[in-house]
Amino acid sequence: MKLIVKSKKRYTITSALPYTNGRLHIGHLAGAYIPADIYARFKRITDNDVAYICGSDEHGVAISIRAKKENKTPKEIIDKYHALIKKSFDDFGISFDNYSRTSSKIHHETASEFFKFLNEKNCFEIKNSKQLYDPVENQFLADRFVEGECPHCGFEHAYGDQCENCGSSLSPEQLINPISKISGSKPIEKETTHWYLPLGKYVDFINDWFLKDKKDSAKSNVYGQVKSWIDQGLESRAITRDLDWGIPVPHKDGDGKVLYVWFDAPIGYISSTKEWAKNENKDWELYWKDKNTKLIHFIGKDNIVFHCIIFPIILKAHGNYILPENVPANEFLNLEGEKFSTSKNWAIWIDEFLNDFPGMQDSLRYTLTVNAPETKDNDFTWKDFQARNNNELVAIFGNFINRVFVLTHKYFDGIVPKFDSLDKVDNEILKRTYEIPKLISDSLDNYKFRYSINLLIDLARLGNKYLADQEPWKLHKSGNIKRVKTIMYVALQICGMLSTLSTPFLPNASKKIRDILNINEIKWTDLSFDDPIIEQNKTIKKPSLIFRKIEDEEIKNQIKKLKS
Ligand code: MF3
Ligand code: ZN
Repeated sequence: MKLIVKSKKRYTITSALPYTNGRLHIGHLAGAYIPADIYARFKRITDNDVAYICGSDEHGVAISIRAKKENKTPKEIIDKYHALIKKSFDDFGISFDNYSRTSSKIHHETASEFFKFLNEKNCFEIKNSKQLYDPVENQFLADRFVEGECPHCGFEHAYGDQCENCGSSLSPEQLINPISKISGSKPIEKETTHWYLPLGKYVDFINDWFLKDKKDSAKSNVYGQVKSWIDQGLESRAITRDLDWGIPVPHKDGDGKVLYVWFDAPIGYISSTKEWAKNENKDWELYWKDKNTKLIHFIGKDNIVFHCIIFPIILKAHGNYILPENVPANEFLNLEGEKFSTSKNWAIWIDEFLNDFPGMQDSLRYTLTVNAPETKDNDFTWKDFQARNNNELVAIFGNFINRVFVLTHKYFDGIVPKFDSLDKVDNEILKRTYEIPKLISDSLDNYKFRYSINLLIDLARLGNKYLADQEPWKLHKSGNIKRVKTIMYVALQICGMLSTLSTPFLPNASKKIRDILNINEIKWTDLSFDDPIIEQNKTIKKPSLIFRKIEDEEIKNQIKKLKS
């Protein structure tokens, strides 16, 4: 009898494309990358066809501003940060099937085609309006090129596209006392022409597709945000800009204009899939146009409107594309009680983390999952990281595995013992062990990552309790070898299950345990109540350390480094 019965499906899984204007920190990982990576690994190990897609988001004002600040060209900036970000993802072990970039030829072509297609289909409005203009730099001031007071909350440093204090979305003209971020001058108004996406025409569509049909499946934080956007009413949004960095508007009247970064970036998911499919000899269209494909976007909460309203409207307007099945956005992670901030260097950078804690990716994956900002903002503290690692990964999970391996070598020279009969307690714990895959699988299908990883640790806890209750060391002393054999056999099955079930969450530990057990990766869909995971009579290797303890000194140093 199989433990999980599922038919094979196709999944297109995306993580938000990071902007190439800074390095990656653990707040990014917690929001859009670790959960997506767990999900992609989970879908692969349950025998699905998976494309896990990402890439660098290389247009937009943030990049031009960074370039000005560092006295470089935008191209130099994106090349530098694309390489750094890609290396951080590789070193950390995020299992993208493809990591592309929006400066690539294939993306420029794909985004331009999209624009042309929609333009020819008359999906856009073309409008003149007065926009803010920097008279010193002779340049229009879109989005983050301008700052001023928020008309809603009075925050003094609201951007031209958004107020980070109250979260409301803005346009530059709404700012009170605007100031150019480039020259510091007071902007004037100048007339210009842009292409707009008439979002208001799609309110019924969003109502049906999202607010009605996804009422039960959407996360409540996501649902609430979408509902409040719709309740406020949707206005047309310009999808072009007067800028010199971006994808040129492919139109005879498009001189000096580029596509708005939030128009081109999500299309980056599609171009990255195309790039991957070409290399892998696959048909990209199956991953974006086949009704049986499930499209899942992993993002942070600041991206909800783009992934639940604007991009779906773009896809809908086009007409040939599937729409997202789910957008399991996370809330924000804070760091030691404060917001992550690149400019204030209030962050834990991935490359530095890996330097200071080499080989400890799983410890960070664990902490960021068990403490994920799944339903509300959450806080990462170094002390909590140490406690989670030492008290849970080392003391519960690692300890159980290690005890079983050491005892198997001590009593049976590393050979998995043969047993005669199982007692009631053995049957009970095996039954529980074999229930866990379905429980974890169901909760991952509902994007409950915290709950899922707790089920995993609970299984290790159960294993520890089993050993403590059965006391094989006492039985061994008193010569009841027959019973010891059964206990160790059962405990080894739990180790096998832990290695299998930890694959999506703790891929490195899982592999280490499998190496010691001499087993290959097992698909969860192949697990069956009738087949033991670890065969009798097979030899396991000598144990090696799976997780290491983190010393107080290391944590002190990190806190010092952060505060300096
Ligand atoms: N670069 C954006 C951010 O960091 C996310 C872009 S996601 C995409 O907030 F959908 F546009 F690709
Ligand atoms: Zn505000």
